[in-house]
Amino acid sequence: MKAVHKVPDLRQALSGLNGTVGFVPTMGALHAGHLSLVERCRRECDVVVVSVFVNPTQFNDRNDLKNYPRTPEKDLALLEGAGVDVAFLPGVEDVYPQEDTRRFDFGPVERVMEGPLRPGHFNGVGQVVSRLFDLVKPHRAYFGEKDFQQVAVIRELVRQLRMPVEIVACPIRRDADGLALSSRNALLNPAQRKAAPHIYRTLCEAAEFANRKSIPELCRWVRERIDENPELETEYFEVVDGRTLQPAADWKGEHGRYGCVAVRVGEIRLIDNIKLC
Ligand code: PAF
Repeated sequence: MKAVHKVPDLRQALSGLNGTVGFVPTMGALHAGHLSLVERCRRECDVVVVSVFVNPTQFNDRNDLKNYPRTPEKDLALLEGAGVDVAFLPGVEDVYPQEDTRRFDFGPVERVMEGPLRPGHFNGVGQVVSRLFDLVKPHRAYFGEKDFQQVAVIRELVRQLRMPVEIVACPIRRDADGLALSSRNALLNPAQRKAAPHIYRTLCEAAEFANRKSIPELCRWVRERIDENPELETEYFEVVDGRTLQPAADWKGEHGRYGCVAVRVGEIRLIDNIKLC
């Protein structure tokens, strides 16, 4: 594996490799969820590139950026073990030699759920992902479905910029107790970590009887159920169309119905989702 930090070194490392290029962009603090993306990329592509970059432009909360876990040495060892060809660990000045002033409009997919709650977040994701795609020029790029709305935003980004990249969405990976893997889980204290699996348990219960309740009834039930746990506070639970991400009015829809949730656990925000029908 070649580990590079600077853009010219990335270009040089890529120039020596042939075939389909698969790319897994990450913010580091890697866990089994990231490694499952890398494994799939390894199976489907000739060349595997992973970036580790905590992108400041997508953080709407300074403290979240400051506290975001950073474990570069461990990350490099994991990537080496996973058979990655090129690990790209740039600094802010390498990704943004000048300030990125682009403003995207991703339309309806960014105006729901995370969009209004994290102003500027998806714009920052658009900036960094388009910049990384320009540098790596992947044929395929792999993203986890835990960030369900991010996947929709990135599909819209490549559509608008006409980038020839296939976006591959990969299933959520979970701990044995059901908690969706996330780098932010490392920030939970023991009581919070113990409480957090209640989120997925509730989503599973909701999926069992989803279409026997009306959507507003289900939404109310999920919120109340999650909030029964004193460590957890639901920010939103929405039943949305699987393609447009707009709130669903009924249970019928070609692209399925997904229950998407954001929960505050102390200072930390966790998101998760489940296919309801
Ligand atoms: O999902 C993430 O870790 C980040 O949002 C991404 C896609 C790597 C962009 O910084």
